[in-house]
Amino acid sequence: MNILFKNIKELIQIREKSEIFISGKAMKTLPSIQNAYLLIKKGVIAAYGPMSEYPEYEVDEIVDSTGKMILPSWCDSHTHLVYAGNREGEFEDRIKGCSYQKIAEMGGGILNSAKVLENTSLEDLYLQSKVRLEEVMCLGTGAIEIKSGYGLTPKSELKMLRVIKRLQNEFPVTIQATFLAAHAIPETHKSNKELFLKTMLEETLPIIKKENLASAVDVFCETGYFTTEDTAYVLETAQDYGLKPKIHVNQFNAIGGVGIGVYYNALSVDHLELIRDEDLAVLKGSKTMPVALPGCSFFLEIPYTPARKIIDFGLPLALASDYNPGSAPSGNMNFIVSTACIKMKMTPQEAINAATINGAFAMGVEHEVGSITVGKKANLILTKPVHSLTDLPYCFGSNLIEQVYVNGKAVKN
Ligand code: NIG
Ligand code: FE
Repeated sequence: MNILFKNIKELIQIREKSEIFISGKAMKTLPSIQNAYLLIKKGVIAAYGPMSEYPEYEVDEIVDSTGKMILPSWCDSHTHLVYAGNREGEFEDRIKGCSYQKIAEMGGGILNSAKVLENTSLEDLYLQSKVRLEEVMCLGTGAIEIKSGYGLTPKSELKMLRVIKRLQNEFPVTIQATFLAAHAIPETHKSNKELFLKTMLEETLPIIKKENLASAVDVFCETGYFTTEDTAYVLETAQDYGLKPKIHVNQFNAIGGVGIGVYYNALSVDHLELIRDEDLAVLKGSKTMPVALPGCSFFLEIPYTPARKIIDFGLPLALASDYNPGSAPSGNMNFIVSTACIKMKMTPQEAINAATINGAFAMGVEHEVGSITVGKKANLILTKPVHSLTDLPYCFGSNLIEQVYVNGKAVKN
């Protein structure tokens, strides 16, 4: 099926194949063509250009896009979308003044989600997760990373990863699976964290490799969770199985995890609500993408990742939702882009670069998605009629998406 979009008010995020992520000052530019056409052939971007140069094509469908814009769909590089139940009770506790950390210390938080997940069947977990994936696709997400990490036992972690695998098989969006091997220390191993890590890795990695259940590994490097030594051990062990590191780091405390991530060539270092000069320095020149999660800062009322400091230092930055039941129960990337502009002072161009091409790089799918490039998947957002690109973050909370395309097929209706 071939589709031709004609009279596009602005075709946004046009990139050469060689542009795999955007850093520093260059993030202020979002290359585009006004009054453009875009041709999709067999689910892939085949051609584009200004309407003035439009050659006649034989196509199955023509979409007149007068007044509307087209951009690549969102690339959400950090989510925990597969989870069981919710944490509404803890949300109310926090409204009454109990902190996220206090709730975790009292056995709630990640341990709460792990308990519920243990008692949820694979089928039920799939059904609960599928609804969330369907929702975020309609909200414009065309590529997504999903982590395990609420299992905390080899058996439950594998259950989560098999649910992610089923989503990969049954949905057209690009899905990258990450084995979050060290998310929290379960009650059973409070006094023997080393044994917990060893068991988690030894009993799961051979199966993950055999069944091809994940392409990346993750660790929560944080005071009270996992140290830099634990982080190095997990990353090194998983790397032997071909998994690429991605870490949760510098959320509440900066303990040196950024350097560990860069040392192990992590795809990304995520959270960074705190960032020290030495963290910025170690990231410079590396291929590790810093990732900000403003939904988590909003929901937990913790500091926002200092985007200006990171970008003005010449580094790239990606934006992701962190969709999870405890610290960010929303996978709406439109809200993430708005929040990045409003609270982190990113320009609309910077935020869209961060939520598309840089997000794709942060999950290792930069050659498939994230920009309008010939040969990439036709994963696109067609907006409603808008004044300009700025409308997207400016009209926070409004849904300005008219249609989402995944592999060139309309998602809604
Ligand atoms: O990215 N920081 C660690 N993990 C998740 C939250 C987990 C939870 O509270 O369920 C995060 O914020
Ligand atoms: Fe997370």
